Amino acid sequence: MAIKRTKIVDAFSGELEGQQVCVKGWVRSRRGNKYIQFIALNDGSTINNLQVVASLEQFSEEELKPITTGASLCVIGKLVASQGKGQSYEVQAEEIEVYGGAEDFPMQKKGHTLEFLREKAHLRMRTNTFGAVFRIRHHLAFAIHKFFNDKGFFYLHTPLITSSDAEGAGEMFQVTTLDVNDMPRTEDGKIDYSKDFFGKMTSLTVSGQLEGELGATALGAIYTFGPTFRAENSNTPRHLAEFWMIEPEMSFYDINDNMDLAEEFIKYCVKYALDHCQDDIEFLNKMYDNTLIERLNSVLKDEFVRLTYTEGIKILEESGEKFEFPVKWGVDLQSEHERYLVEKHFKRPVILTDYPKDIKAFYMKQNDDGKTVRAMDVLFPQIGEIIGGSEREADYDKLMNRINELGIPMKDMWWYLETRKFGTVPHSGFGLGFERLVLFVTGMANIRDVIPFPRTPNNCEF
Ligand code: 4AD
Ligand code: MG
Repeated sequence: MAIKRTKIVDAFSGELEGQQVCVKGWVRSRRGNKYIQFIALNDGSTINNLQVVASLEQFSEEELKPITTGASLCVIGKLVASQGKGQSYEVQAEEIEVYGGAEDFPMQKKGHTLEFLREKAHLRMRTNTFGAVFRIRHHLAFAIHKFFNDKGFFYLHTPLITSSDAEGAGEMFQVTTLDVNDMPRTEDGKIDYSKDFFGKMTSLTVSGQLEGELGATALGAIYTFGPTFRAENSNTPRHLAEFWMIEPEMSFYDINDNMDLAEEFIKYCVKYALDHCQDDIEFLNKMYDNTLIERLNSVLKDEFVRLTYTEGIKILEESGEKFEFPVKWGVDLQSEHERYLVEKHFKRPVILTDYPKDIKAFYMKQNDDGKTVRAMDVLFPQIGEIIGGSEREADYDKLMNRINELGIPMKDMWWYLETRKFGTVPHSGFGLGFERLVLFVTGMANIRDVIPFPRTPNNCEF
């Protein structure tokens, strides 16, 4: 079989009609009668299966027997325009090699629940749904790099192992090489981290922002795109213990520049997916949520509402809605509140700004009212918070006061504070939760279904 392999996506391009091709892939289904058999073949390059037609004059039942759902094949034959409806091309098989059979393959044709498929995450990418989701995920990642590269931002690789808690929420996974069954102790009985690998206590990062700020105050504008870890015990359809975050950070940007960038950025990503993932999005629209495409387009069309937290709370208080978590000024907003503002009240994305300082991180720029900070959260339909960010406190004394107020240990922060000591500048940034973007674009309902191998409390399989 010396002929060069054609990807199925290219077989559909129209350029190879009438030619002999070699296609390889996995069987999605086989049906037919005693004269002719139709094999739906998929190689992951597109959601569309290529129909392989095998005549029983040419192939014996014995030869066709291992060709069941999940089996892997190499097929050589002529690529012709297809008669059957919905099939633009098919291959008239001349030779079939079975690479591997798939007896008792658990992904049968239809009807598995997403919960069932989560337990089979090692195979679920072979289904139409997860093939679509992970192709879209790829295109979104590519779009993000393209967006920032085209704007002259530099991709900065910030560390995953850290000794500081960027968000100050204390939800960190510890990293250690100490023997947990026999920890070295200091004289007063505490664990002696000077004996640990780094000579101090370390964790997996919750955010690359602090190091990102160092980059921005040197290179002008940077972005990070990497894995992030949070040991928060939230078993919700929007939280993962390991997720990917994109964090741009820009010198000389105030909060308005920051909001403009966030809006342009998300719209670019959604538009890119609509332009490059049409077949996959149409499939998901048809299978799961027939308002998906409409929702994606509507986000592109409308300007995001910009509103302060205080105004947002007023709307929620006056809504007459019965929320599970009651609202009053000072509370952190729950997803139900965010979604009320976006889906019911404004019917478009909302950027909420100027939150109470007590529910936001220490690094945010303090407003003159002494109560609020220049935070901005972007709230999305179906999702709630998709982006969190702020203008940063650029004043050394104000930042130092806040750090002292919150009791953040200075030994962890001295290097960060030096950005404010040596040539401090107004600057801003934000973090986009990548899986929340993928959730929005695919219309999937659970964040566990948009990352190949989800990590959540009590779940670290595969
Ligand atoms: O709002 P967060 O915590 O902000 C930060 O980490 C800042 N350092 C960002 C910055 O200003 N550079 O997280 C940012 C985004 C959230 O809006 C959300 O989309 C996502 O990250 N996120 C999560 N996604 C999945 N699972 C989790 N547990 C998440 N926690 C936050
Ligand atoms: Mg947040």
